[in-house]
Amino acid sequence: MAQNRTSSVAVPANFDRTRVVAARNPMAPPLVPRIVIEALPALLMKIKTGRYDEFGQPQSAEKQVANALQNMSVMYKTVGKAHYLPQPDFEDPAFHVAYVYQYLTKHCHLIYQMLWMLLPFGIATQWLERGVNVCSIGGGPGTDVIGVLVYLRSLRSYLDKPASERVIGYVLDKFADAWTGTWQDIRASNSVLRESQIYCRYISCDLLDDLPTAAMEEEIREADLVTMVKAFSAFIAFMRDGRDIRQCAVSKLLMQLKRGAVVLFIDNMDELYLKRRAAPSWRLRKSQNETFLQDIVQPAGLISLGEWHGSTNTWVMKDSHLQLKRYIQERFHLDWSTGLRKCAVSVFLLYKP
Ligand SMILES: C[S@@+](CC[C@H](N)C(=O)[O-])C[C@H]1O[C@@H](n2cnc3c(N)ncnc32)[C@H](O)[C@@H]1O
Repeated sequence: MAQNRTSSVAVPANFDRTRVVAARNPMAPPLVPRIVIEALPALLMKIKTGRYDEFGQPQSAEKQVANALQNMSVMYKTVGKAHYLPQPDFEDPAFHVAYVYQYLTKHCHLIYQMLWMLLPFGIATQWLERGVNVCSIGGGPGTDVIGVLVYLRSLRSYLDKPASERVIGYVLDKFADAWTGTWQDIRASNSVLRESQIYCRYISCDLLDDLPTAAMEEEIREADLVTMVKAFSAFIAFMRDGRDIRQCAVSKLLMQLKRGAVVLFIDNMDELYLKRRAAPSWRLRKSQNETFLQDIVQPAGLISLGEWHGSTNTWVMKDSHLQLKRYIQERFHLDWSTGLRKCAVSVFLLYKP
C-alpha cells in the first residue's frame, strides 16, 4: 500500500521534454498490440458454436465476432441514443474478442499518454517505488490496469531503475464474472504480464444502483488511483428518467477516497462543455463533463491536477499492424480497420487533498 510521503527521486533535467514526447507520440508501446495478438486465439476458443441466427442459419464464431464488432461500433458512436439500441452483451465471448481487438490497444495507449502528460513526477515515482492500488470503475477486461502497468514500465525504463512495478487492480464492473475469464486469458497469453506483478480482482456491481456494497467501499478506500476510462458515458446513458447521478453508487464511492488518491477520467470529448467554458451561456441541461465535475468531483472534494481536451492518435508498429490485419482478414474474413486509431477525448486528472 503506498504511503503518503514524497518520493526520493529528483526530477531529471529533461523530464518535461520527455513528458511531451511520450504524451504526443502516436506510436503505442509495442507491448500493447502484442498482448492483443497473443490473447485473441485463447479468447476465440471460448466462443460457443452451434448458435443460430433469426433465420435458423448456424452462426460461426467468425460471424458472431463480426456482429459484435458491428454492434459496438454503432453503439459507441451513438451513446446518446443508448436506450434505443441493442446493448453490447459482455456475457457473450464473441463480444470479448471484438472488444479486445477493437479497443484494448487504443484505450491502454490513451491511459499511458494521459499519465505521461498530466501526472506529477512525485506521485508517479511513489507509485513506481511502492506499487499502486488501482480501482478501475467500469474497467472492462482490465484495460485500465494494463495501461497503468505500461506507463510505469516506460517511466522506469526512462529513469533507468530496476524492474519493480506492482499494479494491484480492483475492477468494479457490471459484467465482472464474464470479464474475469477474459482477464485470465489475457494475462496467461503474454509472458510480460505473466511475469509482472499485475493482478486484477473483479467486483460485480451496477454503478447506477442506489448504494455501493461493502466490498466496493473497501477497495475504493484503499485506492491510490481510480480510473474511469470510457466508462462514464457507457453507464450514464442508462440512468433511469429523472434519476440524479448524485444518488447513485458511483458518486457515493468517490466520496470515500483516501487523502492523496488520484482519479483519472477519460471519456469522449465534450464539445458543449468546451463551448460553454469559452462563452458561458444559459444552460438547458448539463453536459457530460459538467455532470461529472458538479455532481461527482465537487461533492467528493477533489481538486484538479490538470485537464486536456483534444484529438488523439494511436498507431502500432508495422509488424503488429500487419499481424492484426492478417488475423482479422484470414480468421474472420473481415476488412476491419485495426482499432480506433483516432479519437477525441476529454481528460481530467483529480486529487484528494
Ligand atoms: C466502453 S467499456 C470501457 C472499459 C475499459 N475502461 C476500457 O477503457 O477498455 C465500458 C465498461 O463499463 C461497464 N459498464 C457498463 N454499464 C455499467 C454499469 N451500470 N455498472 C458498472 N459497469 C458498467 C462495461 O461492462 C464495460 O466494462
